Amino acid sequence: MATPLAEAAESVEHAARLAHVSKSFAGPGGQQLVLDDISLDVAPGEFVTLLGASGCGKSTLLNLVAGLDRPTAGSITTDGRPALMFQEHALFPWLTAGKNIELALKLQGVPKPQRRGRAEELLELVRLGGAYGKRVHELSGGMRQRVAMARALAQESKLLLMDEPFAALDAITRDVLHEELTRIWQETGLSVLFVTHNVREAVRLAQRVVLLSSRPGRVAREWTVDIPHPRRIEDAPVAELSLEITDILRGEIRRHGRH
Ligand SMILES: Nc1ncnc2c1ncn2[C@@H]1O[C@H](COP(=O)(O)OP(=O)(O)O)[C@@H](O)[C@H]1O
Ligand SMILES: [Mg+2]
Repeated sequence: MATPLAEAAESVEHAARLAHVSKSFAGPGGQQLVLDDISLDVAPGEFVTLLGASGCGKSTLLNLVAGLDRPTAGSITTDGRPALMFQEHALFPWLTAGKNIELALKLQGVPKPQRRGRAEELLELVRLGGAYGKRVHELSGGMRQRVAMARALAQESKLLLMDEPFAALDAITRDVLHEELTRIWQETGLSVLFVTHNVREAVRLAQRVVLLSSRPGRVAREWTVDIPHPRRIEDAPVAELSLEITDILRGEIRRHGRH
């Protein structure tokens, strides 16, 4: 039997631990196996990207880690409740940027008198100081994702789960947000599990890239990325590793033959 101390030690050792996770959905032709026997650890402060072709089960996996759904088999533990950020910003359009963040702070139990100041600090952190009173429709796509990032950070989680958060942005805005995310990750010591189908984005951001195969999703391979920061998506080492990973990803896509 584990002592409470041993459990505490266990919980700080991993921001997330997935052990033999499988997930099936009921389909027209019976059970469809989407994720098969996935084991993956995210260390405290680590930045991991989960890379795979569209439909391979990335969102399914992230939803399981977020606790929005349960695995069919295997176990998932996280160090506290993770924060989530999606491609769609999911901000409330009738609230201002500031009030969207304050709502997250309220749900977090932050007392009312402290919320405004904290919301303004978080807007500063994502370099949107001054946007407190702006409504969602007044903000560009990139600014909305910054507010969404501030709102996720308001949750004070140790683990940030990101599901293709920049996929709908133009390349220049995405580049800038990559820089911001890297800076915030370095400043806060957060652990990040970032899902993408974009190989260069995966390499640009991560300390470790985990490649998922398709149908079913399995861990096909992983790479440690020891390219120093600051990185840019055009850097030769980023391009080189991306090429290597793309070749393997293409093999994965050919292998299951549906693209
Ligand atoms: N709730 C669900 N019910 C049935 N099938 C699902 C459900 N969620 C996802 N799937 C299926 O699981 C597979 C993986 O989907 P998803 O995780 O969204 O992939 P990705 O995010 O990698 O594009 C798809 O074939 C999808 O149709
Ligand atoms: Mg998805």
